[in-house]
Amino acid sequence: MSRAKIALIGAGQIGGTLAHLIGLKELGDVVLFDIAEGVPQGKALDIAESSPVDGFDAAFKGANDYAAIAGADVCIVTAGVPRKPGMSRDDLLGINLKVMKAVGEGIKAHAPNAFVICITNPLDAMVWALREFSGLPHEKVCGMAGVLDSARFRYFLAEEFGVSVKDVTAFVLGGHGDTMVPLTRYSTVAGIPLPDLVEMGWTTREKLDAIVQRTRDGGAEIVGLLKTGSAFYAPAASAVAMAEAYLKDQKRVLPCAAHVDGPYGLDGIYVGVPTVIGAGGIEKIVEIKLNKEEQAMLDKSVDAVRGLVAACKSIEPSLA
Ligand code: APR
Repeated sequence: MSRAKIALIGAGQIGGTLAHLIGLKELGDVVLFDIAEGVPQGKALDIAESSPVDGFDAAFKGANDYAAIAGADVCIVTAGVPRKPGMSRDDLLGINLKVMKAVGEGIKAHAPNAFVICITNPLDAMVWALREFSGLPHEKVCGMAGVLDSARFRYFLAEEFGVSVKDVTAFVLGGHGDTMVPLTRYSTVAGIPLPDLVEMGWTTREKLDAIVQRTRDGGAEIVGLLKTGSAFYAPAASAVAMAEAYLKDQKRVLPCAAHVDGPYGLDGIYVGVPTVIGAGGIEKIVEIKLNKEEQAMLDKSVDAVRGLVAACKSIEPSLA
């Protein structure tokens, strides 16, 4: 059986990290595509030259022409610009929308059967626009945010409790932005929900609230430290987990920005929800019961996403 082909559209910080992780995990052959000449070629060659040391077999190719992504099984999209300090994800909308148009048309022409994972921000609006421009089925186009947001939540919780990150599960709903909804009662340490841990005296409500806020601000915290761009290691690792779930038909339950039409009372909007990812792409949306407070937070988050989608439609008439 031939190896899977994974196209990385955007060969910047996240794109390069994705290529390296995909090589180390032997998930398939990689094509790095970028408009910058030499960058994808240079990164592809550099990573290929590390393969004898780490002992992985995979082909790496850099390209500036969409023809190179032909027949890709998975496309991971990071093309666009990242945030600088003081910018919100939403500030990127105008520039990155134009990029999504070019990328969507490129995927439509050359890789219409791919499973597409968008990372470009503002995530929920960009994945919606990318789906519109590409015309691919909704279940084959999703956005990476929830895995990253819940990984940040899990890391902060593991630090607070002094336990392994492996034993902490966390649940984050909603848009990838300030309105994201970390759900404490569905987040656990070895199956024990966080509210029970407060009762057990492991932590306090105040400390949990501070961790929830730090999770919401997780991206900005990294931007503030890096100053020249945004996070790339954890976003790349998160998207690779999603690609692996698809390629290996793992049926993993992962939160991601998916097209929700029906569940949660939503009518066809891309927003972060728990999903099952397998060979069919987004095979299922897991609908959980929300209490009033959680529903109100989700509604607010959905409203923020709707606002961004409306902004996209006013900038690009073909989307209206
Ligand atoms: N087509 C292809 N590639 C493009 C295009 C385009 N139209 N426009 C820009 N790019 C490329 C740039 O040349 C650059 O190499 O996208 C790459 C983006 O890389 P970085 O600037 O390093 O950004 P990165 O940190 O990888 O983040 C990319 O993901 O998390 C989001 O907010 C982040 O939107 C940003 C994206």
